[in-house]
Amino acid sequence: MLKKEINVVILAAGKGTRMKSSYPKVLHKLGGKTILEHVIKIAKSIKPKKIILVYNNKEKTIESTINDASIEWIVQKEQKGTGDAILIASKNFSDDNDVVVLYGDMPCISIESIKKLFNSKKKSKISLLTARTKNPDGYGRVLKKNGKVIKIIEEQDANFHEKKIKEVYSGIFIANGKDLKRWLNKINNKNIKKEFYATDIIYFAHLEKSTIKTVQVLNYEEILGVNNKLQLSILEKIFQKKQINDLLLSGVTLKDPDHFILRGILKHGKNVEIDTGVILEGNIILGNNVKIGAGSVIKNSFIDNQTEIKEYTIIESVKIGKKCIIGPFAHLRPKTILDNQIHIGNFVEIKESTIKKESKIKHLSYFGNSEIGSQVNIGAGSITCNYDGVNKFKTIIGDNVLIGANTQLIAPIKIIKNATIAAGTTLTKDVDTPCLVYNNKEQKQKKNWIRPQKNIKKID
Ligand code: UD1
Ligand code: CA
Repeated sequence: MLKKEINVVILAAGKGTRMKSSYPKVLHKLGGKTILEHVIKIAKSIKPKKIILVYNNKEKTIESTINDASIEWIVQKEQKGTGDAILIASKNFSDDNDVVVLYGDMPCISIESIKKLFNSKKKSKISLLTARTKNPDGYGRVLKKNGKVIKIIEEQDANFHEKKIKEVYSGIFIANGKDLKRWLNKINNKNIKKEFYATDIIYFAHLEKSTIKTVQVLNYEEILGVNNKLQLSILEKIFQKKQINDLLLSGVTLKDPDHFILRGILKHGKNVEIDTGVILEGNIILGNNVKIGAGSVIKNSFIDNQTEIKEYTIIESVKIGKKCIIGPFAHLRPKTILDNQIHIGNFVEIKESTIKKESKIKHLSYFGNSEIGSQVNIGAGSITCNYDGVNKFKTIIGDNVLIGANTQLIAPIKIIKNATIAAGTTLTKDVDTPCLVYNNKEQKQKKNWIRPQKNIKKID
């Protein structure tokens, strides 16, 4: 992206106490991904020489959750302020590279705004990303005189007039490594919060008569941070809205855009239609003319052309072929692979099974650890008994097998192609000829039988 090499510093050592959570703030999720992963993605899109991440060693889970060896992890033992955090990181960046500082709790910054910041650096010693807002509360204010930046004043230290300044600082800046180190070594904690403010470097740059430029973010919402769960929920709404707009513009029909959630990445073909209340998670691929019915939840799955997922169906880690009809109320679990033109109906659960083309399981069934051939028809209420309490066993069903309603298949078991299993059969042995299989259960009758009557208590 840039000719000059860049080091990115991400500050993520803050305590995050206002989240009132037992795990670190930056590991809370936005659109299904941790807040920090969003920031790391922005950092990587800059294509930097290195990414240095400052974190708090009391929050060890940050490093293990993100688990990214391309990042240089640096511990800030005590949270003495943003200036102290960058000073600690400065041991890892070289003098002749430019340094960009991002905040780990600000996940919506756009790469376009960062590009604007980079362009501005060509004509400055330090460039700051700022925003104009009607409500500057909580942010550092950008103090300018005759159009020139003098300093950033933190909310806590601002007087009545300074608080009225509407240009606020995002905390994101770019400066040369050598300049930055010089300024960082001058900052102190003589302020109301007794913190080492990173923002003080701007005043030192001003004292050196350096050119300081401000660049405004393209959209004010980009600088919204996460400090509590309310702010997180506001960002989630903004994030979802943006994704939804992109999907609509790329041709997906969302029948009720206000009630659609995507927590991951959706790749799609043409004429995809998604009804109200659908949640998509992880990596989802939908082919042409795929329809998803109301209330369905789909995670990490591939659904091929012209397949319809009817209402309230749950699908996780499944591959589904073309022209299938799944649901309503079906549950497809991981490691299931369905060929083309499969019908799975209501209250059917399938787990770790493969089903070949044109087979049907339409009502109230459970199939686990099974291999089902093509054109197999499975009657209502049939199940695989695949588990003995310790181990799982396989059920293998050949092509064109017909299984009557309410059949129990006690695995391991194999049924040869073209066999027919009568309704109500409990199958315990392999079927190796294409015959009719049934359990000889005699139907008995009890004459003069009277149904139990309700006890009606007499009240005297
Ligand atoms: C900071 C800026 C403020 C700006 C605002 C934008 C300072 C002094 N002020 O304030 O001008 O308007 O961001 O949101 O920088 N962190 C550490 N170590 C620390 C302290 C903080 O790594 O010792 C990290 C936090 O995890 C966070 C980031 O630095 O990701 C910002 O810290 P925070 O305390 O939230 O700064 P603000 O008060 O928001
Ligand atoms: Ca903050």
